[in-house]
Amino acid sequence: MEKTIAIIDLGGQYCHLIGRQLRKLGVESEIYGPETRPHTLAKANHAGIILSGGPQSVYEKDAPKIKPGMLDIKIPILGICYGHQLLAQMLGAKVLKGDGEYGPTKLSVVAQDTLFRGTPKEQTVWMSHTDTVTKLPADLLTLASTGQCQNAAFADLRRGFYGVQFHPEVIHTENGLQILRRFVSSICGLRTRKDIKHRIEKLVDDIRTQVGQKSVFFLVSGGVDSTVAFVLCAKALPRDRILGLYVDTGLMRKRETQELQANLARLGLLDRLKTCDKSTHFFRELCGVTNPEKKRQIIGRLFVEVQSEAMIELGINDQRWLLGQGTIYPDTIESGGARGLAAIIKTHHNRCPEIMEMIRKGRVIEPLADFYKDEVRELGRRLGLEPKLTNRWPFPGPGLAIRCLCNRTAEKAKPISEPLLSYVADFDYEPVLLPIKSVGVQGDARTYRQLVALRDRRGRLDYERLQHVSTELCNVHTATNRVVVFIAGCIKSLEGASIKRATLTPKRVELLREADFIVRSKMEEYNLTESVWQFPVVLVPISFRGGESIILRPVNSVDGMTANFARLPSDLIYVVAKEIIQLGKIDAVFLDVTSKPPATIEWE
Ligand code: XMP
Repeated sequence: MEKTIAIIDLGGQYCHLIGRQLRKLGVESEIYGPETRPHTLAKANHAGIILSGGPQSVYEKDAPKIKPGMLDIKIPILGICYGHQLLAQMLGAKVLKGDGEYGPTKLSVVAQDTLFRGTPKEQTVWMSHTDTVTKLPADLLTLASTGQCQNAAFADLRRGFYGVQFHPEVIHTENGLQILRRFVSSICGLRTRKDIKHRIEKLVDDIRTQVGQKSVFFLVSGGVDSTVAFVLCAKALPRDRILGLYVDTGLMRKRETQELQANLARLGLLDRLKTCDKSTHFFRELCGVTNPEKKRQIIGRLFVEVQSEAMIELGINDQRWLLGQGTIYPDTIESGGARGLAAIIKTHHNRCPEIMEMIRKGRVIEPLADFYKDEVRELGRRLGLEPKLTNRWPFPGPGLAIRCLCNRTAEKAKPISEPLLSYVADFDYEPVLLPIKSVGVQGDARTYRQLVALRDRRGRLDYERLQHVSTELCNVHTATNRVVVFIAGCIKSLEGASIKRATLTPKRVELLREADFIVRSKMEEYNLTESVWQFPVVLVPISFRGGESIILRPVNSVDGMTANFARLPSDLIYVVAKEIIQLGKIDAVFLDVTSKPPATIEWE
């Protein structure tokens, strides 16, 4: 039997992604908890161990540790981020709190002939850490450094132990897959393949096994994930044993319902879909709620309630029916992870407590729970779905609710303080600190921080500079996890901004829906829809003349786990912004120029 890699989950956001990247190389892996005993791993058929990242600090009392005996079982180990720090500490190095690096970071390789063979001396890696390995004992070798992290990679060549502070498993680390390939092939001795065939037949068999003689009731949103999962179930089961429900929450995009119906009609599945309009109910329950996690939990609960009511109405509320969902892996990990070690970034609607209870009772089927978005798109293509559908931008289950920011108290914008002020001034930006918070992910944990808005005094959109400035700002100014740049609006100075009280109302959602429609239409007109991975449009109560602001958030990503802002042609950005201003009630349009991490894609 082919040997595999053991991954020890220390609570990182990207732990499962390591397995997925290994799968790309044709190498299988198994995830273990930190409590695993060395002899369990030694007995299993593993050629190497990878220690994942995690949100804690190795010097904290209850930080996850691996058993010291793990270092004696004579198989290579690669530590990533927290795993790198833990391995270094166990080998006698010092780990201390540092300044932090988030997002794209320049790495200088000093010893290329090991993990980094075949990769350039200077390369971009994706970082998300605060602690750093500061002092290595004599028998450990520094392999690479960054501006703020001297031991960004190290090795104990004799024992085959390696540590990297960055994340080779995320797509934005440009040589990440090559580095993992070097570890599993040259260091662990495994045979790698270029790619693996996707497993539709296996998925269909698995669905049949899990469902048995039961039937599946699906919540269909019209997005890629739930449509692919629904079609897979339709392929696995007789028609009368699957039924879909589409709930119009009032939080959908313009023309969404009609588009879904047309798609299912094309697939011959329209008669298997029920539709219900629950928008009044959703708005009533969300009225006055400003906390983003609370909004998500209420929406999750409402979906479950609507689904159980519909099952009662349809007379299918018994043990013979399972609930089908299009959950994909990032939904699980961002809601706290399958093993409960990862930090909660946000609760996805399909991971609310009510659904978790049904999962425990074995009443839920999620055929795509181990997959990432790009894999789901590939599955969709192989199932014969239209490219227009499979290439659709992801749209979150809670819909426009998480793109319509709410705020409890009114506040004025604040000037940013030294030394940041002079740093930004060097670049000819007018900056302001906006006391409204959005969600981020930093050092594998959730952050909820303020944003800095910039205005380029020369009125240009210089992406290279914005990338540099936004990364530095969030690294140095720790109260910030996001940077936006002013695009259009009738304003004198950013300092005139104030944050208004705002809640979720049908009127605000309608305004956002129209702005979102302008963006989608213009992207199609410019033939740029497929040039970005996703393009959230966010309504934020940043006011200059009594109205609000719209934030444009085009991103490039592969799996949604890491992302960078997309550098769209500036003429498109200005045209879109101008049309949005013409909607009225919008004082300003900004462009989000932050990578993930430190910010997330959505604003919440
Ligand atoms: P973030 O904001 O964490 O988002 O960078 C990563 C990807 O996940 C999508 N997303 C969701 N998808 N239900 C979903 O089906 C949700 O509750 C949800 N929240 C975020 C987000 O749009 C992005 O593509």
